Amino acid sequence: MKKIRVGIVGHGFMGHEHETMLSSLEQYEIVGISDKDPAQLEDVKPGIKRYGSNEELFADPDVDVALIVVNNNQHHDLVIQAARAGKDIICEKPVAMTLDELDDMVKVTEECGVKFTVHHQRRLDKDFRTMKAVYDAGSVGDVYSVKSSLYGFNGNMHDWHVYISEGGGMLFDWGVHLIDQMLWMMQGAKVTSVFADVRNVINFEVDDYFKILLRFDNGVTGEIELGTYFLTDKIGEKWFERHWIMGGNKGTAYLDGFDPVGKIVRTSHLLTNVRGTRTMTAAGPTRSFGPPAEGVILTEDLPEVNTEHKDYFINYYNAYFGEEEFMIKIPETRRVLALMEAIRESARTGDAIKFES
Ligand SMILES: NC(=O)c1ccc[n+]([C@@H]2O[C@H](COP(=O)([O-])OP(=O)(O)OC[C@H]3O[C@@H](n4cnc5c(N)ncnc54)[C@H](O)[C@@H]3O)[C@@H](O)[C@H]2O)c1
Repeated sequence: MKKIRVGIVGHGFMGHEHETMLSSLEQYEIVGISDKDPAQLEDVKPGIKRYGSNEELFADPDVDVALIVVNNNQHHDLVIQAARAGKDIICEKPVAMTLDELDDMVKVTEECGVKFTVHHQRRLDKDFRTMKAVYDAGSVGDVYSVKSSLYGFNGNMHDWHVYISEGGGMLFDWGVHLIDQMLWMMQGAKVTSVFADVRNVINFEVDDYFKILLRFDNGVTGEIELGTYFLTDKIGEKWFERHWIMGGNKGTAYLDGFDPVGKIVRTSHLLTNVRGTRTMTAAGPTRSFGPPAEGVILTEDLPEVNTEHKDYFINYYNAYFGEEEFMIKIPETRRVLALMEAIRESARTGDAIKFES
């Protein structure tokens, strides 16, 4: 089997993940790794070169693909350097910090005739794929609302993620994944408007909370909420919460966790014109929010999906040799970046922003 020979630029958290992943796949050979901090190369696996500089990696004729895994503010320059050296490129997300940067990268990669894509492997997350399967099958009828949320409890962001100049902040970090998932679930639909609240709750420079409302022209409102400072006293049991909820006119699907636990829930008949029953709560009596009559609520299991992050690199291999399309297309990453710019504008002005018409 012909292998794709990869050079990894950046051997931090994600560089190590790529080293482990690609070492496990017979389609790939890691030729070498560079990092501006030589200490980061000390634990490079045996048999893999440790370059003295990125330039050395880009000049190595044994490298087919440069995998750029460095701080976000350096994606632009390194992608351009790799392209000019004739390397095909996989860049970590967010592909760039601005649309101008990305347009420049696209121009140069096209001029140099190199392949260019982005590592958005969270399109393969099991929780997301499960909800996408529910959506694609129309299992809850006409969908009006999809909410995707992620809450972290440890109250901290780490390393360079707290600096604007390095491309820090949660919109750039997890926001790109969550927005990409939502847009890909609603494939074919336009985002007509966006309203967002983006905050620096405890970080001085960068966002650590956002709530985003996306109106799609297919009738769905997508909501994405993330916070790194939603504290809990359940530390030790649970460090984060990941939730999805999808409302349709024939049911609701909910899911909790990255290893999803949830159900599709329906009613045996629509609850119109039933006689109101009174339920007493701590906040007084209610009819609308009491329990439903016996037997009315029906549940179904969520669909089983078969998905793994390594599928990203299997697709990359097949696409590299022209047998498939790349899973992540640059115009899709551009749309996510454009939406993030509208999100920031909405947060700044407090207005809903018209997006696609
Ligand atoms: N797809 C994902 O799920 C995912 C997850 C985590 C991080 N990432 C992305 O991966 C990238 C790296 O993040 P990380 O968490 O690994 O950061 P990190 O700080 O752990 O590692 C970055 C490494 O890059 C090195 N570096 C910085 N500038 C360099 C340069 N100019 N040349 C060579 N080396 C350089 C640093 O010394 C460090 O070792 C970011 O773009 C981040 O958004 C993606």
